[in-house]
Amino acid sequence: MGVPAGCSGRIDFCLDFANALGRVHWRRYTKQMMKLAQNILLSLPPELSHNLAISGLNAMGQLPGQITPLQGRKVTFLGHELANPIGLAAGLDKDAQAVLGLAKVGFGFVEVGTVTPKAQPGNPKPRLFRLKEHQALINRMGFNNQGVEAMAGRLEHVRQSGRVSHTLIGVNLGKNKDTPLEEATQDYLISMTRLYSLADYFTLNLSSPNTPGLRQLQHGGALAELLGRVKEAQQKLANGRSVVPVLLKVAPDLDDEDIESIAAQLVMSELEGLIATNTTLERGAVERHVHGQEAGGLSGAPLTLKSAEVVKKFRIKLPANMPIVGVGGISDPESAQAMLAAGADVLQIYSSFIYKGPNLVQKLVAGTSKIS
Ligand SMILES: Cc1cc2nc3c(=O)[nH]c(=O)nc-3n(C[C@H](O)[C@H](O)[C@H](O)COP(=O)(O)O)c2cc1C
Repeated sequence: MGVPAGCSGRIDFCLDFANALGRVHWRRYTKQMMKLAQNILLSLPPELSHNLAISGLNAMGQLPGQITPLQGRKVTFLGHELANPIGLAAGLDKDAQAVLGLAKVGFGFVEVGTVTPKAQPGNPKPRLFRLKEHQALINRMGFNNQGVEAMAGRLEHVRQSGRVSHTLIGVNLGKNKDTPLEEATQDYLISMTRLYSLADYFTLNLSSPNTPGLRQLQHGGALAELLGRVKEAQQKLANGRSVVPVLLKVAPDLDDEDIESIAAQLVMSELEGLIATNTTLERGAVERHVHGQEAGGLSGAPLTLKSAEVVKKFRIKLPANMPIVGVGGISDPESAQAMLAAGADVLQIYSSFIYKGPNLVQKLVAGTSKIS
């Protein structure tokens, strides 16, 4: 690109021009580097590439400077104004190791976890499979995480740094594998109590298919008991101040009756919101794939329609002021818009972020910025 002829003698203009050119080149260069890193990561075994990505994001977060989300469509969510409605779904940063780096990517909100009270190793490897042709993943990680104390230490560090003030940080809570189902509530309360001053919201994960029996807690008396005790603890912990909101994350594999009763329970217990959905047990779309029959939860493109359908059904049953986080197979501006049209207030992504990388976040923020 040549310098314009009018530049001679007009120093300010020339400097502005050179700066702008530099910025354009730098942005293009960064985009290209991200794409290259993405391709390298996708050529490595899935869990190794996941760990490398977390380390890379962690390193990115150590670079100095204030961190702000990408500016897009502003949306009020859980009493906060988000700069954009695109969030990172739980499970990618299970131990809050890369919160600053993820915030730097530009997400409007980042959900860490699932965290359990005690550290646990999760299921034996291999436990994460790419189904690239379907832009999908199957995982049976089994809540591998370093436990609530390790997470608390990292989030304290993030808060004390004062570098993230406009990116909401949610924490997704689960139960330890060896905690009997009847005592599960206690696990949610332990983690919530320890992290209460560090989280902008909590998610009760009752929908992972990889912890035996967990999904049963989404139903009937078990759900009523759990939500009742969590709300009681939330009020106590708030101690007269405004509460840290609690959301419920549900599976996509629910029939109409389940949806109706869960929605009624959410209203009755005055929970602050819903996240729909987690991964599916259904395999129809991928049954011929070499990994199609791996045990675990399927995520990514095969979930797009199913998750939006679940969101749509919940939207009808829930009051308009109860926010819904739409997640499942969002991978481009069209699927993002479809999820918003189904009734979601904000969105989360996971699998598409693995396949497309940080550049996708910019695309989604831009692609959702014009919806009223
Ligand atoms: C490898 C992997 C690990 C996940 N771990 C968790 C988790 O720990 N807690 C949780 O609530 N959801 C977890 N999820 C589910 C995602 O948060 C999300 O709900 C689901 O993948 C659907 O979104 P997607 O189609 O954009 O991936 C995980 C998903 C994947 C692929």
